[in-house]
Amino acid sequence: MQESMKAFIKTRYGGPEILRFEEAAKPSVKADDVLVEVIANSVNPADWHILRGKPLFARLSYGLFKPKYKIPGTDFAGVVVETGNNVTHLKAGDRVFGHHLKGGAFAEYVSVPANSCAVMPAGTNYTEMACVPLAGSTAYQALVIHGQLRRNETVLINGASGGVGHFAIQIAKACGAKVTAVCSSKNADFVTGLGADKVIAYDKEDIHQHDGQYDLVVDTNGNLSHADYKRMGKRGVIVGFTTMPHMMSVLLRKAFSRFPLAQFTAEADAMDLEMLGSLIHKNKLRVHITQTYSQHDIPEALSYMETMRTKGKIAIRWLR
Ligand SMILES: NC(=O)c1ccc[n+]([C@@H]2O[C@H](COP(=O)([O-])OP(=O)(O)OC[C@H]3O[C@@H](n4cnc5c(N)ncnc54)[C@H](OP(=O)(O)O)[C@@H]3O)[C@@H](O)[C@H]2O)c1
Repeated sequence: MQESMKAFIKTRYGGPEILRFEEAAKPSVKADDVLVEVIANSVNPADWHILRGKPLFARLSYGLFKPKYKIPGTDFAGVVVETGNNVTHLKAGDRVFGHHLKGGAFAEYVSVPANSCAVMPAGTNYTEMACVPLAGSTAYQALVIHGQLRRNETVLINGASGGVGHFAIQIAKACGAKVTAVCSSKNADFVTGLGADKVIAYDKEDIHQHDGQYDLVVDTNGNLSHADYKRMGKRGVIVGFTTMPHMMSVLLRKAFSRFPLAQFTAEADAMDLEMLGSLIHKNKLRVHITQTYSQHDIPEALSYMETMRTKGKIAIRWLR
């Protein structure tokens, strides 16, 4: 008989209120997978985008009329309880952190490809490490892989106080770059404390008129126009999303321009996670958790996330 577990379940697209905390089948482990007992999660904008099936084109991947994957949740940290036949680098008992865009993490157990998680560094806890995977990988991939950021370069990070942004400041500093952070004035001290060299408060100075020059412009908020990137940067990376018309306008202009502007979807990669773990171990990267909820309050945590006002990360700790 198949074992069961507790999990959040969605059977249609909608807001956090459609989620039900129910019995579900404990996932089976495929040859390249590991089964992880979830001890902590964090929430990301991706969780509510996928939950609502918005923007609509996301339904091509996540199910046209109803969700293909019934259990939501991207980020997790926990303990490996079983490994697939092909997995050699992880074993039962390992403390791991990782992410899976197909979901499944808002559950007692999640089965994921072994290469989408990494061993937690010594001295770290599950709650902080559950906050790292998607936001940290996105920041790392935006700056280092797609942005090709180099030592002594200047980088402008638009949307610097949220999950991705607060990691991006610290990773850029660890790369030896000079960082200008764009956030609301209430978060100016926060981003300075993370290492930002300069701060632009977007509620005091219009970023669309800002005439500073940077080697790299990274937009985690998603409100910069193609003209903004060209005016301020030598290269640009689009991370965030505001509205479909805005995104289409930037991508259309990008198609007819030689300006090097990258857009990407973050990948779950064990090597990137190990790199983030090593930065945490060396105290070059720290996680700011603004609020921690229990698993029962995951819908409330998702509603908070939807406000797009999160400072750092929101964590979930499983009570058993
Ligand atoms: N491309 C990818 O693969 C990928 C991966 C992960 C995330 N994302 C996207 O990246 C975006 C950010 O994700 P996140 O996890 O960092 O979200 P988050 O934690 O919810 O961050 C929201 C932040 O946005 C800031 N913000 C709001 N309005 C702003 C404005 N007008 N100008 C500048 N900053 C503003 C807020 O700061 P203040 O309160 O200081 O205004 C807040 O700190 C989302 O759109 C998400 O979907 C993309």
